[in-house]
Amino acid sequence: MGTTIGEVSRAESCIVADTKWTIVRMIPESSFVSPSTKQPLTKTPDGSALLGGPGERYPLIEGIPQLLVHSGQAQASGESQAYYRDRASEYDRGIEALFAMLLANEEQTRGEMFAELEVRPDSRVLEIGCGTCRDTIHLLDMPIDVFAGDLSLEMLLTGRDRLRRAGKDTSRLRLFCADVMHLPFADGFFDAVYHFGGLNLFPDHRKALEEITRVVKPNGRVVVGDEGIAPWLANSQFANILQNSNPLFRHRAPLDCLPVAARQVACRWILSGSFYLISFVKGEGEPRLDLDVEFPGRRGGSHRTRYFGKLEGVSPELRGRVLDAAAAEGLSVTAWLEKTLGRATRNVARDGAGD
Ligand SMILES: C[S@@+](CC[C@H](N)C(=O)[O-])C[C@H]1O[C@@H](n2cnc3c(N)ncnc32)[C@H](O)[C@@H]1O
Repeated sequence: MGTTIGEVSRAESCIVADTKWTIVRMIPESSFVSPSTKQPLTKTPDGSALLGGPGERYPLIEGIPQLLVHSGQAQASGESQAYYRDRASEYDRGIEALFAMLLANEEQTRGEMFAELEVRPDSRVLEIGCGTCRDTIHLLDMPIDVFAGDLSLEMLLTGRDRLRRAGKDTSRLRLFCADVMHLPFADGFFDAVYHFGGLNLFPDHRKALEEITRVVKPNGRVVVGDEGIAPWLANSQFANILQNSNPLFRHRAPLDCLPVAARQVACRWILSGSFYLISFVKGEGEPRLDLDVEFPGRRGGSHRTRYFGKLEGVSPELRGRVLDAAAAEGLSVTAWLEKTLGRATRNVARDGAGD
């Protein structure tokens, strides 16, 4: 029988880890920017910290940059930080139990989730809220650059141990500590962003999704998911049982919190309908419309005239006469008003307003 990962001695695993970790540092620190000002960071000569503007110093702890802002918003995420700090060691057992209870194969499920990222070779992918790297370990099997970040250093350290024990090639991985509300990356830095499992407890869903979308390139993909019973199962015993043990299953897919720039939005429910998974492509601003297509029919006009060309109201009697006059001339109401009011205003301009 071969040596199992669990039997690798501490010394052996450290040698593997150190070799890998030297390579990890090949993804440069210059990839990061200040989480508050978004200005570039520089490394201190001794390599112990990254420096931003005045008073901005982000230490590296065990080689992992701590890119957390010290503001009120960071405080809002503080509760999550404390929660996961205390539970990092038992987290993995909880996840294994969860997948077992849901009769699901974890590796297969996770593979199906991040397949929605549609990454290409050499894509640069952000995984935020990576926890103990249960997705990261599979993302590393693809020929892509992975930035895996979490609010909790303890979760990241547990995750790094997992990668080391598995002997993963981490040359294209960069771990970092950051808050999803203040990501330490320039706009459009990533081809795709992935998050699973923490969204329900992010302090502000709308702002978190906005920040995630900010760091994706135009046309890049975002995939996010968390606990949330599918609407058609809301009153099932399945839902009641899950919610009885974990109130997080009461959450609903936060589709109303997606940014207006979201395009090709898809939401599906995975793990027997107990978790939502939302994916979308980053567009630009609001969806576009052709405002000048004419509506057929009696009222006529276009979105431009109906929305941007509104005038004050008139008496119901005059309105009736306008409708009759338009019908008598075989014109839509809009076309009749354009013609008649256009003529009237030209006459006023020609003859003088007071005449
Ligand atoms: C339930 S775990 C999911 C971990 C991992 N994605 C998985 O699927 O196993 C949620 C993770 O989100 C992280 N998290 C919570 N709030 C966060 C925030 N504001 N910014 C970044 N990460 C956060 C937690 O520290 C935790 O590791």
